[in-house]
Amino acid sequence: MSVEPSRDSSRPLLLTNIGQLLTLRHSKTGPRRGRELAELGIVNSAAVFCKDGKIVAAGHENEVALQAKQTNGEIENYDCRSGVVLPGFVDSHTHPVFTAPRLVDFEQRILGNTYEQIARAGGGIRSSVDGVRNASEEELAGYTLRAFEEMQRSGTTTVEAKSGYGLSAESELKSLRAIRLAAQRWPGTVIPTLLGAHVVPSEFQQKADAYVDVVCDQMIPVTAQERLAEYVDVFCERGAFSVAQAERIFEAASKAGLGVRAHVCQFTPQDLSRLARFEPASYDHLDCLTDRDLQGMAQQNTIATLLPGASYFLAHPYPMARRLIEAGAAVALATDFNPGTSPTPSMTLVLSLACTQMRMTPAEAISAATINGAYALRLAEQKGPIESGKDADLALFDVKDYREICYWFGAEHCRATVAHGKLQIH
Ligand code: NIG
Ligand code: FE
Repeated sequence: MSVEPSRDSSRPLLLTNIGQLLTLRHSKTGPRRGRELAELGIVNSAAVFCKDGKIVAAGHENEVALQAKQTNGEIENYDCRSGVVLPGFVDSHTHPVFTAPRLVDFEQRILGNTYEQIARAGGGIRSSVDGVRNASEEELAGYTLRAFEEMQRSGTTTVEAKSGYGLSAESELKSLRAIRLAAQRWPGTVIPTLLGAHVVPSEFQQKADAYVDVVCDQMIPVTAQERLAEYVDVFCERGAFSVAQAERIFEAASKAGLGVRAHVCQFTPQDLSRLARFEPASYDHLDCLTDRDLQGMAQQNTIATLLPGASYFLAHPYPMARRLIEAGAAVALATDFNPGTSPTPSMTLVLSLACTQMRMTPAEAISAATINGAYALRLAEQKGPIESGKDADLALFDVKDYREICYWFGAEHCRATVAHGKLQIH
């Protein structure tokens, strides 16, 4: 099933007959913590009016209709048939630039080998590298665009997209250029991230620090100069990069004016206090967090991004969402879409896992997948709540009650999305 293009994206758009509108409005700014996560700002019998890619009015149907009437010119009207409208999901952690699924790894794990054992034997991330190195920028853009379109089908309108399967200056930059091309062809918003430090490539085995030099001296400067990415990420883990190497990479990124974020504590705990001075926008995974780092997560101005799709696919324990929320950390949810640990583009599947496996309530999960995702990408000025002045990024679900978005699984009930004011019916 493909996404149908909007009939006319230039006309103002009025969404009417919304059964429940989850505005996510709140008196307080900043990412949602603790009990705030459960506050969805629901308006029943609502409408949303969008113009020039922005929300002009959102709230009770009568009031919004009045405002729409004052607009000159023809308006595109869309009947939401009593469905639920919420902010488009912000998938703040994905790896879409790869050419093939990793089916051998998949079968190896079914036979009882772990992700780390497979990686040590030459599988894992390194087995996705040849495909990316041999592909053209245009081919990679095609794979990436297809991933964005699949994400959109479950309600995603903003995606963070990492490179990370090229593992040479040339192929990492090619991957970032492919993300840029795909982003130009997709109506949603894309935030690119350089993940040159995903693992040490085969040709640098036993010379990891020399590879870190390539990341710092070759990849980061060109990325910054050509504005190919907004963030630099590091897979900080046993078998990938140490905290000391992550510090070097973050040093170079900060010097180049790029933001930082990190994959941490997926398989083993790390001392995150050493990374705090770089003010990472987010720490992602956090499957095995120490008590000290758990408290640190709540005290820092950062987002704890949880990726239950990877726990599901690797049959690993899930991150401790309840403990993080109760400690006051700002929790976000993302797919981690990638060929090795989480081949799902679906934020609705992630919501289901968050509720059933991590004991987040549907309201908490929805806040984590929308507004806190926007904070993880430092986009909260433009995205997050459905209110006047914000980007017109919305998802419409064919359900009566918002909790159904998390309840049904293996079924997509997202009927349409609006990205920068452009309606797409799925
Ligand atoms: O987030 N952990 C590191 N990176 C990905 C896995 C990438 C892969 O196996 O291809 C992750 O799980
Ligand atoms: Fe990841």
